[in-house]
Amino acid sequence: MTERTHHTRFDDPVLALGERFVAAIRSALPDLAPTERIDPLISPSRQPKLGDFQCNAAMPLAKRLGRKPREVAMAIVAHLDLADLAEPVTERDIAGPGFINVRLKAEKLAELLNQLDDESLGVPKPDTPTTVVVDLFGVNLAKQMHVGHLRSTIIGDAIARVFERLGHTVVRQNHVGDWGLPIAMVTWKIASEVEAGRANLDALTLDDLDRYYRTAQRDCTPDRRGLIAVQRYGLGPKAEAELDAQVAGADEALANAKDTLLKLQSHDPETLRVWQRIRDVTMNACLDMCRRLNTSITDDDSAGESSYAEELGPLVQDLLDRGIAEESDGALVVRIEGIPEPTIIRKSDGGFLYATTDIAGIRRRVHKFNADRLIYCVDARQSFHFRLVFAAAHRAGYTRRPGSDHNAVLEHAAFGTVLGEDNRPFKARTGENVRLADLIDEAVARAEHEVKLRSPDLDAESCRSIAEVVAIAAIKYADLSNDRVKDYVFSMNRMIAFEGDTGPYLLNALVRIKGIFRKGQERSLIPAAGIDSAEFLPEHPAEKTMALQLLRYPAALSATAESLGPHRLCVYLYELAGAFSKFYEQCPVLAAEDERTRASRLRLCQLTARVLADGLGVLGISTLDRM
Ligand code: ARG
Repeated sequence: MTERTHHTRFDDPVLALGERFVAAIRSALPDLAPTERIDPLISPSRQPKLGDFQCNAAMPLAKRLGRKPREVAMAIVAHLDLADLAEPVTERDIAGPGFINVRLKAEKLAELLNQLDDESLGVPKPDTPTTVVVDLFGVNLAKQMHVGHLRSTIIGDAIARVFERLGHTVVRQNHVGDWGLPIAMVTWKIASEVEAGRANLDALTLDDLDRYYRTAQRDCTPDRRGLIAVQRYGLGPKAEAELDAQVAGADEALANAKDTLLKLQSHDPETLRVWQRIRDVTMNACLDMCRRLNTSITDDDSAGESSYAEELGPLVQDLLDRGIAEESDGALVVRIEGIPEPTIIRKSDGGFLYATTDIAGIRRRVHKFNADRLIYCVDARQSFHFRLVFAAAHRAGYTRRPGSDHNAVLEHAAFGTVLGEDNRPFKARTGENVRLADLIDEAVARAEHEVKLRSPDLDAESCRSIAEVVAIAAIKYADLSNDRVKDYVFSMNRMIAFEGDTGPYLLNALVRIKGIFRKGQERSLIPAAGIDSAEFLPEHPAEKTMALQLLRYPAALSATAESLGPHRLCVYLYELAGAFSKFYEQCPVLAAEDERTRASRLRLCQLTARVLADGLGVLGISTLDRM
């Protein structure tokens, strides 16, 4: 394959046509004020028989001007000059109430495909590269990763990848929950188990930690209501004694945990050693999971709550000094215009909160990383938290770098809940969270079964490694292809299917194209010099549909970035794979009628494979040569 270089800039036909249409609209409709913004409403044609693109602007313009839409469409057509771009448009190209159909010139289509087929796949370098910080992953120490973490990890990583792909600088930040009372509780619990000789610090696994975490929570929660009930209903001295003991024990445990928190805060070496071990075990297991999920998240991206601990006191003082924080019932709060609840930044007992740390996080991200934009890929149930925190940081001036005159943009890329087939939050039958690792193992087993059925002569090891890629693709694609903010139902059967809007289906489209090339090599049907210089001759309707879909790739990427919606890219890739399927059914490639057609089709296939692989890469989905 020859080296591709970044030569010409890709002229998106939607934009190019848009410019011509706006010019025609302005001269056809002089009543429109020159200051009025005109949207030419160019979209891919809904009826490929009638054209490649359509302009839908006549209808809203007619309404605005109180004229008949068809008349407006005719006036636009009369002033339209598409010269080198498209076939001349006449009255006959106006459909229905006033849709104007446009067909690209064949040479133009070939030229656009040539432009697209460069190193960047038509994606321009940004005029002003920005720095984007993406907050993702967000695990808490001593807890297993479950389905909820799947979303913040893979959606966050996909959003990060889109911005990287578009040429921006991306900083990933894991806001790990590694500080505060709940962490102190489990630290105390484990420290005392180790001291009593019941646990070995060096042999702890994440499952152990998860168990200790829950025991610690229980140990530190006095059942006062139970005690009151026992007393009120006179359930007997035995029950009362038991609950008495529970409450006393819990009070003591809680006091111990608070003491442990103080020790952590004052860097007591023995306590820190236990905490560090909890951190290492959790992070190693979770980062292994990130690797398995093919996300680019490493420990360098971790900035846990603990990393802000020393900054919180001075931060709160700064806010007090500048009159931004005020006292309220012993606590310190920041009031936000239009929101009745103030943001509490220090409790009356002197403790700091989740919100305080997030405000410090914003300041660090803006000041230290020079972020222009902060994107928080966090569960939708935290929307209110982020509204408060964003507004407070803004009021504090932390969203602006010293000396800069623009504020960083803060966005909560909220995601919905993963539901089980019963439409309730996805849980195991026992009511517990399902371990992500177990879920993936199950998907791999199913994928392995499918792969074996299809390729019975594959050896066990290849089968297993293909199944791993297929399973991860299935899980990731199922998650990413759903509208981010909506809840979605987790269905293993549906996501693992090789047909339909699934990860395996997309992988398979790519594998089929690679198969064409393998066969072509075997039969010596592919020129040694490659096919990069073959002429694009898309003539068959299925070929044209695929070609037009290819041209939409750069726009699909920017729409994905703009909406922070990886599902946009999923829709695009699914449509491309569908267009390829139709093309493959209807247009023989290796058996094409003549050599020029074969070369053109091969090059189209190659371009399709490059776009598919690139798009899957942006989603963080690895590809396969066979499956
Ligand atoms: N650890 C948090 C949780 O489990 C998620 C962190 C999200 N990121 C943030 N900057 N607050 O809810």
